This record gives sequence, structure tokens and C-alpha cells, in this order.
Amino acid sequence: MLGRLATIGARCPRVARIGNRTNNHLSSRQFARNLASVASIAVQTSSTPHGLDAKSPTRPRHVESAPSFHPTPRITVPALDSPLPKIIDGSLYVPTRSGWTKASGRWLRDICSSPQSRNQDTSQRQINVLKLGKNCDVAGVSQLGDSFQVTFADGHQSLYSMASLMDRSNPALKQKRAGVIPIITWKASIESQPPTVEYANMPSVSGMKELMTKLRTYGFTFIDNMPATPEASKQLLETIGPIRNTHYGGFYDFTSDLSSKDTAYTSESLEPHTDNTYFTEPAGLQALHMLSHTDGSGGESSLVDGIGAAEQLYEQDREAYRILSQTSVYAHASGNDGISIQPAFAFPTLSHDPELGHLIQVRWNNADRAGVVAEHDELDRWYDAAAKFDALLCDPKNAYWFQLKPGKMLIFDNWRVLHGRAAFTGKRRMCGAYINRDDYISKFRMSTLSEEEIRGSTVTG
Ligand SMILES: [Fe+2]
Repeated sequence: MLGRLATIGARCPRVARIGNRTNNHLSSRQFARNLASVASIAVQTSSTPHGLDAKSPTRPRHVESAPSFHPTPRITVPALDSPLPKIIDGSLYVPTRSGWTKASGRWLRDICSSPQSRNQDTSQRQINVLKLGKNCDVAGVSQLGDSFQVTFADGHQSLYSMASLMDRSNPALKQKRAGVIPIITWKASIESQPPTVEYANMPSVSGMKELMTKLRTYGFTFIDNMPATPEASKQLLETIGPIRNTHYGGFYDFTSDLSSKDTAYTSESLEPHTDNTYFTEPAGLQALHMLSHTDGSGGESSLVDGIGAAEQLYEQDREAYRILSQTSVYAHASGNDGISIQPAFAFPTLSHDPELGHLIQVRWNNADRAGVVAEHDELDRWYDAAAKFDALLCDPKNAYWFQLKPGKMLIFDNWRVLHGRAAFTGKRRMCGAYINRDDYISKFRMSTLSEEEIRGSTVTG
């Protein structure tokens, strides 16, 4: 919701470590090197295929393309000439960044999906390779079409598809895990055709897929032609995921009376912001449905694409982007009696996926900002960078303004899209809710991936 719901943070400890003040003096080049050092995998792109070295047919080319931070996801697909696992001298070998290596018996047993190893209903592991010891040693392997049958020292046999053995080094797996798809950044001109889905289609599988895909692509969508009631709003939101409870409650239905001691409950204007910056994990989705507006006018809403604005900053001033990505900032929620919430630790304004490098969360709330984790002599650099980002967020070219209406619910990604509001007169009744990001991404994956893709990006790797 508007300002009442103020701030949370992504759990990216490696990114957070990069963002601590000991690194604030780094040059861009040093920063890039540090990023490379924290990356646990190399990002493989179609332009840098993980192919065989011509001089040594059994040795894959060394790929050293560690991620660098950037605003938008770079979707990768496995290269057609990727080397495949193979049997050498009776053992199963898998390609790595630095050459071929014998597949770990414990890893193979660990990802075994047979009924003896996995509960077939919950996909939970029901063996412990840490206790199986030498029983996990590979005693034999044979190729059966596109699969390998592995026999372990204790006689257990497992079948592995080529794909499941390749997943571990495949960035596409990580993208499926995290629900990463190509995104479309936007500006005020999205006014001409904002992403919208019909309420009547929502009960269907295809309707939910459309909703989830538009949310992941644009960061927001409207649900049109729905009943202007809290009951219908709550019911629809619960089909996405459980409604999140906070110190403001769960599903809300309120009028502008400041009952929750937050500016969102007033009739004042609100600058573009994300909610929950004061939580360790801010809500993933937020829904707003205006049920009525009587005896007054105004109150137009605004949305700004945080990734789009970050993309502009990245192009205009790479150093400012770096500062906002490295400098952690605290936030607080203190307005309610008995409440003083702060995140477990400070998060940077721009948080990136530590493996894939793209921006996954924007945390921005001027009203709720607390301490900036920087030395006195670094503060003005942070304020300068923040001012540039603020200018982009408030640039009329970037802000999409519209009027909420009864029967048209807005749902947006609180990790990506900032929301704001103009002042209004009269009485407005609003309802809405938060949904956790993990529940949102779970619904996205379940709505858009095949069973095989879900299984492949859950258990293996
Ligand atoms: Fe808000």
C-alpha cells in the first residue's frame, strides 16, 4: 500500500558485503574485479559458448565471464555446441569451466530422483549422502540414449538425463529457479497501453499465466472489470499467494483517517517510493483497489519503473549507479505504538543477483530512510548519486500517472516499481494487501513453467 507499507530488503548477503563501507573507496575497475570474485559461477552466454578447445578435444574452452552488475536480466540459452557429459575409461565425466572432471559420486547420489532417494510427493530428499560414505562411489556407468545409468558401490542404480547433469553449469537453470525472464522497461508513455488482464479470465490457468507474465515483464498490471468489493479483491489476491501480515494487519480496507499513523493514511501527496524498506524482506507484490471516492477529487496515482530509472542512471553516470549499489542504507518504521522496526542489516538502494548480476530490487523511501552506511567524507557522494536517481524517479517522462477506479485493481512488483500519489480531497476507501516475493515467484514459476522445467530447476543443479 502507499506509504503505510514502507520497506523490506532482499537477502543478498554477498551483495550486502560488497556494499559495506570498506569497499566504498573502490574504483569501478576494482568494483568489477570484486564482483567477479564473489561470483560462484561463470555466466555463459550464447556469444561465449562453453565449447571444446580445438587444440584439446577433451578439454572445454575456459570460460571466465563472471557477472558484472547491470540493470536488466541477460537471458542466456545453452550454446548448441556445449560439451556433454561422457564416459571416459568407464567413468562419468562432466564439463567444467576449467576442463573435464569425474562426476562426484556424492553429488550424483544427492540429486538422484528415484523413489528410494526422493519422496515422490514432496520431492524431498530422503537419503543422506553425508552418512552414506563410500556407498556413493560410482561402481559403473552406461549410456542409454540421452541418459546415463549409474551403479553405485552399494548396488543402487540411478538414471540421469543429459539435461539434469548439465543443469548445474547452466545459467538458464538459475533463471528458472528465480523466475527470470526478459523484462520490458517503460516510461510515462506506457499510459497508452498499460498491461491489463480481465478479471473474468482470472480463474483460468491461462488467465493466471497472463497475469504472472505481465507482472514479471512490466512490474505491474491492472485487473479490469472486477467487482468493487473487498471480498472479490481479497479472494483474487489469495489465488496468487497468502496475504502477508504486518504490524498494519493483513488484507486492509481503510479510509484516509491516519488510523495507522502513516502518511499513506492521509490525503497528502506521496513521492515515488517502494514499501517496506524497513523490513529485511520487503513485500514482493502490492495490490491497491480504490473502492470509492466521495465528496472530493484528486488523488491520482503514479508508477515509476525502478529498473527503467536505474537503467537510465547506469547509462548516464556509472559511478552514481555503483555508489547506490554498494552503499547500504537503513530504514525504520516507528509511527505505531510499541513498534520500532528496522531491517536486520542495511541494504543498498540497488541490490543485484550475485550470480547473474542483474538488478533484482530497488529500495527507495525518502520518508523512511535512516542511516546511510558511509563515512562522513563519503556522504556527499552518496547524496549526489541519490539525488540523480531521485531526479530520474521524479522526471515526468518516467512517471505514469493514472486515476485508480472502482472495479480496476492495481497489482505491482514492490521490488521493482515505485508508487506515489497526488493529494486529494474528500473520502477515499481503499483496499489491498501485500504478498511475499517468494510466494509471487512460486506462482509465476508454477503458472509459466512446465512440470519438467519446475522439477529440473528445483531438485537438480
Ligand atoms: Fe506505499
